[in-house]
Amino acid sequence: MARLPELMHRAFFQTISLLSPRGQGEVLRRYFDWWHRSPDPWQLGTDGYERHKYEATLGQVPARPYRRILEVGCSEGVFTGLLAAAHPRARIMGIDISHRALLRARDRTRDAAARTALVQADLVTLATGRAFDLVFCAETLYYVGRPDRLRRASERLAGVLAPGGVLVLVHPWPEAERLHRFVEEDRALSRIAHHVHDASHRPFSVAVYQHERRAAA
Ligand SMILES: C[S@@+](CC[C@H](N)C(=O)[O-])C[C@H]1O[C@@H](n2cnc3c(N)ncnc32)[C@H](O)[C@@H]1O
Repeated sequence: MARLPELMHRAFFQTISLLSPRGQGEVLRRYFDWWHRSPDPWQLGTDGYERHKYEATLGQVPARPYRRILEVGCSEGVFTGLLAAAHPRARIMGIDISHRALLRARDRTRDAAARTALVQADLVTLATGRAFDLVFCAETLYYVGRPDRLRRASERLAGVLAPGGVLVLVHPWPEAERLHRFVEEDRALSRIAHHVHDASHRPFSVAVYQHERRAAA
């Protein structure tokens, strides 16, 4: 059962999503710039649970020579740096709504700066073209709010996948069932792997989808 702080957290972001997409994006940008006022507000770089989640996520990715990788909601670039190390020949793009987070992500990924782009963008209005053969979105979809925004965000994630591309979603379990449902319903995507990691105090799901090989009309 969801805990009260989590219910309040979700209600807060549901309320923001009553605004227009543009208004919602503006409030989220300000909120997450404020949230990142001190470095690494979620301890993503130091927490053993987060490290375990990153390893579990990378372990679920089908072994292929990916060339263009996108991380949506990359925050300060902790996972982006791991991705760059795990895929040394790939070009990586990290997007986040917070400019302040991206400035720190730039520092964290400087070893791979020549092949890493960090871009301020809103998942809900994302338009980068059908260009990526591997896309990650972890611990971000619960900020999107009401169902029509979640549907829109899910469409954006599917819409940036190249034919045959792989999408990896990582969110708390069992809430992931709600957060991933529009991706599950997308007929251009098939789920090729799903693992629920329920041994820890905060269970999470890693779900992997593949876009159909044929280019969508
Ligand atoms: C909890 S952090 C997750 C970081 C990373 N994905 C991970 O798992 O380590 C969520 C990030 O999503 C970003 N974010 C929230 N809403 C967003 C949106 N609509 N578009 C892009 N980024 C967003 C926040 O700024 C924050 O950096």
